[in-house]
Amino acid sequence: MHNYDYFVPTRLVFGRGRLGELSKYVSGRGKRVLITYGGGSIKKLGLYDRLRELLRDFEVFELSGIEPNPRIDSVRKGVEIVKRENIDFIVAAGGGSVIDCTKNIAAGACYDGDPWDLVMNPRLIGKHVPFFAVLTLSATGSEYDGSGVITNPATNEKNALMGEIFPEVSIMDPEYTFSVNAWQTAAGSADIMSHVFESYLVRDGNIFTDGICEAMLKTVIECTPKALKNPEDYEARAQLMMVSSFGCCGLPALGRTPSPWVCHGIEHEVSAFYDITHGAGLAILTPPLMRYSLSAETAPRFAQYGVRVFGLNPDNDVMANAEEAIRKTADFFKSIGLPATLREAGIPSDEHFGEMADHIIAHWFGDFKNALKPLGREDIIAILKDAL
Ligand code: NZQ
Ligand code: ZN
Repeated sequence: MHNYDYFVPTRLVFGRGRLGELSKYVSGRGKRVLITYGGGSIKKLGLYDRLRELLRDFEVFELSGIEPNPRIDSVRKGVEIVKRENIDFIVAAGGGSVIDCTKNIAAGACYDGDPWDLVMNPRLIGKHVPFFAVLTLSATGSEYDGSGVITNPATNEKNALMGEIFPEVSIMDPEYTFSVNAWQTAAGSADIMSHVFESYLVRDGNIFTDGICEAMLKTVIECTPKALKNPEDYEARAQLMMVSSFGCCGLPALGRTPSPWVCHGIEHEVSAFYDITHGAGLAILTPPLMRYSLSAETAPRFAQYGVRVFGLNPDNDVMANAEEAIRKTADFFKSIGLPATLREAGIPSDEHFGEMADHIIAHWFGDFKNALKPLGREDIIAILKDAL
């Protein structure tokens, strides 16, 4: 059993009709609030009007138009508003992109320099302005973790903001995800699964978190087709929302070999160059990474995944089960409408693969040498080429 630290100070307020409780949590927190949101989905949902109504006694400022794969320029705009208007707290309404951007704004507002510095150097992260999240998309787990991901198009970088910038409260009403389209629903599910794989597919596991990871994977595999078939299936949406929070908060990793989050490290490079949907990128990269990591030594872990998640026969040959588990993973992603290759996602060639590998080695927080199969520059390029 490996040592671990686990700290998540966010209150999750989960369930139908619970948005009204936001008032109780923000009362006494000051008078000036910034609402942050994306391209308008919260207006179609009626969530925007409801928030304005709930916050009618406050002086409300807004930052809209936060992009999927949020850009550092949106963060800069937000920091400027918070500093100029003396904002007391922020309410982020949206998916991972809005919440991540808000984390950088919240910390950037308490920092004297450019907020991109905090992305490049987590030691510069100090205090942050308090913020609250209203989640509208089940995927990243940003509603229940302290970090974020920000893109700097000027330098082709999409880097993790690694801090303890937690929402105080995350309101999670699964009904707000009924309107998420099939593409984002599927991509969100692939993202949740990838968060679990990052913790599950490491050298040393343990009984408790093996079980947690397997339960999470089974939940996503069972509920995603239901949510795609009937977008208003409350139970399916609720289960996906529940797993989304716990997939990325550190819980699945307790006591296991610390993971360098290889698939995410590679996907962020692909997104930085080609701005693809995060979950789709992960779905494309996962089977090639699994195939590349498979060996006589690692096969038992993949075989266990196949037996416990896909119900493969435990009496089969271990390598055969491991290979079948990887095939079934690829088939599942295809069955929910996600692309299987980088070309399908519009990436024409291997032109930038070398730069991507170099950037990972120089800047990614995890050391790929600690992956299930240790990886260097040429290995990363080989995985990307297999995914092309
Ligand atoms: O911009 P709006 O209009 O809100 O539309 C969004 C956006 O176009 C739409 N959407 C969200 N909720 C909706 C909805 N449409 C209809 N109905 C709703 N209820 O969905 C689109 C995608 O939203 P986005 O927030 O980008 O998706 P997601 O939650 O998947 O976030 C992706 C970002 O999070 C980062 C990713 O890299 C990517 O930048 N990640 C953050 C992590 C974290 N903080 O811990 C971990 C993850 O691994 C991930 O890297
Ligand atoms: Zn992710």
